[in-house]
Amino acid sequence: MSRVDVHRINQQFEKVRASSLLDEIDTSFIYYDFSVLQNRVEQVSSAFGNAARHTVAVKSNPLSKVLNFITGMGFGLECASFEEVLLAQRAGAPLIAWDSPAKTHQEMIASNEVDSLVINADSLRELSELLKLNRQARIFLRINPHTETGAHASMSVAGARSKFGESIANRAQIIETLVSASGRVSGLHVHTSSQTADYIRMADAIRKVIDLAIEINAIAPDTIRTIDIGGGFPAEYKAGDDFNISSYAEALRKACPELFDGSFEVLTEFGRYYHANAAWTATQVHDVKTTEPEHQVLIVHVGADLFLREAYNPGVWHHDMLLHPSVNSVLMNTDVGGPLCFGGDYIAKNIQLPKATAGEWLIIQDTGANSFALWSRHCSRAFPKIIGEDSELAILRDRDSFEDILNFWS
Ligand SMILES: Cc1ncc(COP(=O)(O)O)c(C=O)c1O
Repeated sequence: MSRVDVHRINQQFEKVRASSLLDEIDTSFIYYDFSVLQNRVEQVSSAFGNAARHTVAVKSNPLSKVLNFITGMGFGLECASFEEVLLAQRAGAPLIAWDSPAKTHQEMIASNEVDSLVINADSLRELSELLKLNRQARIFLRINPHTETGAHASMSVAGARSKFGESIANRAQIIETLVSASGRVSGLHVHTSSQTADYIRMADAIRKVIDLAIEINAIAPDTIRTIDIGGGFPAEYKAGDDFNISSYAEALRKACPELFDGSFEVLTEFGRYYHANAAWTATQVHDVKTTEPEHQVLIVHVGADLFLREAYNPGVWHHDMLLHPSVNSVLMNTDVGGPLCFGGDYIAKNIQLPKATAGEWLIIQDTGANSFALWSRHCSRAFPKIIGEDSELAILRDRDSFEDILNFWS
């Protein structure tokens, strides 16, 4: 399964509109299709085989009902903060990987209460603190392999000056520390980037980390037993995108056979791949402005509050969009502006859409990952309702009430 086709999205939209789940106040809502998530979980399981265990990055979609579904399928959760660890714990995750470049002293102490926890120390300094404060968890060290994968700069986290991980340039120090902590530090972690399809360079980075593990194990046998290969597998956003997780696994099998021959336990942390295509966002067209012939500016009810990356990195994050019902076949050069009061509040500029009319609905495709998960309170607007479909339609998270917003700022 790749992207959900437009015909199906239109059917899903009609179904939600015909249900009793929407109120007049819902001028925007999000639809999440659990069958897409289930399919992705199955694809990852079959691509990596039995030697791997999988966690899904909470930051890409932290909805409780989605996390429960993931853990119900036996997958674990990857957490970028201790707050996410608590979400994962509440979802009953069978495995929790805690990554963060800034874990506090108090959080490290509290992490003793979390079962089935792997902690990826982000530096040798953090590692020494963790070894003193946590006696329960499995502890790994994140390595920065100095490998650029061609991802957008904001998604690239393994360049020579990256803030993440312990630099592989400090090899001797890493080896000395892990050899002396043998028995307590049992894995290495690497995560290079997100949303790039350069499987060769991603595999190259993991190869460097496996070589480091082999060097450590040659001195202190069996010290490094797990390689956490991070996430980063891209989602399809456009016609022509063709990203197959089994092709990535194949590239890894060639460059890093040790991940598949039982030499190491493997952990994965994909996020975007599971969720991006599972959801779309519908927002009613509030107004259509024409400032010049052949050009329209749509004003809709979600903007930089829901689509942070799209607004603040214009042109980098593409979403196909469609109008419903689309009564006009004339295409126009279109900017899609949101409801916030600042000049950068656009979801897209210069895209082609049919001539629009106020009251129509704009459907923004592939919004299941890293969109509502990054919700911003700028201008204090209400977080929209999220409706999910598993065996039936249900509200996964209700729209914020005005009271929720008053409480947030109180
Ligand atoms: C450490 C770590 N693991 C996993 C992920 C998930 O990445 P992706 O959603 O690209 O698969 C991220 C994303 O930022 C991350 O920082």
